[in-house]
Amino acid sequence: MEVVRTREALRAALPRFPERLLVPTMGNLHAGHLALVAEARRRGGPVVVSIFVNRLQFGAGEDFDRYPRTLARDLDLLREAGCDLVFAPDEGEMYPEPQTFRVRPDPALAGVLEGAVRPGHFEGVTTVVMKLFALTAPRAAVFGKKDYQQLLVIRRMVAQFGFPIEIIAHETVREADGLALSSRNGYLSPEERSRAPQFYAVLAGLAAEAGKLEQPAALRAAVARAEARLWDAGFGVDYVTIRRRADLGLPEAGEVGPGRLVVLGAVRLGSTRLIDNVEF
Ligand code: PAF
Repeated sequence: MEVVRTREALRAALPRFPERLLVPTMGNLHAGHLALVAEARRRGGPVVVSIFVNRLQFGAGEDFDRYPRTLARDLDLLREAGCDLVFAPDEGEMYPEPQTFRVRPDPALAGVLEGAVRPGHFEGVTTVVMKLFALTAPRAAVFGKKDYQQLLVIRRMVAQFGFPIEIIAHETVREADGLALSSRNGYLSPEERSRAPQFYAVLAGLAAEAGKLEQPAALRAAVARAEARLWDAGFGVDYVTIRRRADLGLPEAGEVGPGRLVVLGAVRLGSTRLIDNVEF
């Protein structure tokens, strides 16, 4: 496995890795990231992993400073996972001058849910992903479905700008008790960790119930009950909602039914923010 820290070294290395697939990450890797690498390998072609904690996508007061930087361990894991090339730039390399040119994602998709709670988040994500795509020129890139809205925003960006890059979605990887793997799970105290799986349990229960409903009003009532269950279980709820999978719009009559919708939620447990989703 080759590791490059600069754009110049990346440019020099890329011709040795034609038809590559990119797995963009912010490091602090876990089994969810390694599943993305395995998916990239399964698709064939060399696998490039980027590791960069992107300041632009963190809001004021968010966890940019405490976000774990674990490069040595990440590289060991990637070596074992069969990654071919790692691009791990520092901030000066990625943003040698203030990044005043930004991607402005469609507010209809990027201004709701995570975008409403974290203003500017998807501008930061799309700007860095655009830059990573430009620097690594992959034929495909793999993203996890845990960040469901991120996946949709990136798909739309790639489609609208006409990048010749296939976006591959990978299922969320979960602990045995249902908790979605996330770098932020490490912030949970043991007591919070023991309560955290209730988040997924409530979302999965809502998806199972909503799958049998036909009217938007009945969906709204089921959502309200699920939200109340989360508050009762000690979570601070940023949102719980049922949306169309295609564009995250609210489903209207005639659009309710299996295979088209997704439950999305974001909660706070102590100082940790968790997001998850369940398609149905
Ligand atoms: O999903 C993430 O880890 C980040 O948002 C990404 C896509 C690597 C961009 O910084």
